[in-house]
Amino acid sequence: MGDMKLASQCSTEMTTGHVFIAVSLDGFIARRDGDIDWLENLDAENEDNGFAEMMASVDGLIMGRATFQKVLSFGEWVYEKPVVVMSRSLTQTDIPDHLKERVRLSRSTPKTLLGELDAEGWRRAYLDGGKVIQSFLSEGLIEDLWLTRAPVLIGEGLPLFGPVPHDTNLAHRDTRVFPSGLVSSKYRIVQGT
Ligand SMILES: NC(=O)c1ccc[n+]([C@@H]2O[C@H](COP(=O)([O-])OP(=O)(O)OC[C@H]3O[C@@H](n4cnc5c(N)ncnc54)[C@H](OP(=O)(O)O)[C@@H]3O)[C@@H](O)[C@H]2O)c1
Repeated sequence: MGDMKLASQCSTEMTTGHVFIAVSLDGFIARRDGDIDWLENLDAENEDNGFAEMMASVDGLIMGRATFQKVLSFGEWVYEKPVVVMSRSLTQTDIPDHLKERVRLSRSTPKTLLGELDAEGWRRAYLDGGKVIQSFLSEGLIEDLWLTRAPVLIGEGLPLFGPVPHDTNLAHRDTRVFPSGLVSSKYRIVQGT
């Protein structure tokens, strides 16, 4: 009942945006230089943090250019679903040949991009990258957030959240605590607040 009410308040009937991201306890998704060593150092490899569930629920990913470049630096491509990289600076030559079938670039605005993906049949898009998430959030294009808080303070870095045009209320849906100290919480955004 509550879910239906919240869903009906959603400002978009297009493809919906969904976030799944890890954040330090002090609110950063990476160090200033993009390093996520603090995340990799946690003893959480055997814990089901929900990533597979999230991936199964979406039609593809919309990723910021910086996140794409970071993922490329890992050398291993973990995404089976299509990935759209938002960038005004990258060109086709920046996409490695072996990924050209699975990765494409977009210069569209968030709303236009969701409309384009909707026309292709996407229902749910996984949004990745701090700036991309902030930009979709400020336009009311995110339906829910799944945040995994890591028990570490890194002091400074790239923030998950930034300035917002107005307050946004969230409805807490679920929280799971893992032996590693990771705390995973799901929130649904209450649109129009
Ligand atoms: N902790 C985690 O779970 C997690 C998850 C994902 C990423 N990360 C880390 O986060 C870092 C990257 O995040 P980030 O916040 O710096 O950047 P980001 O969101 O990944 O990428 C931002 C870039 O995307 C492009 N862009 C195009 N249209 C945009 C729009 N409408 N809104 C926002 N960006 C748009 C711009 O690049 P152009 O200049 O090319 O136009 C912009 O500079 C990486 O170090 C990555 O490792 C951590």
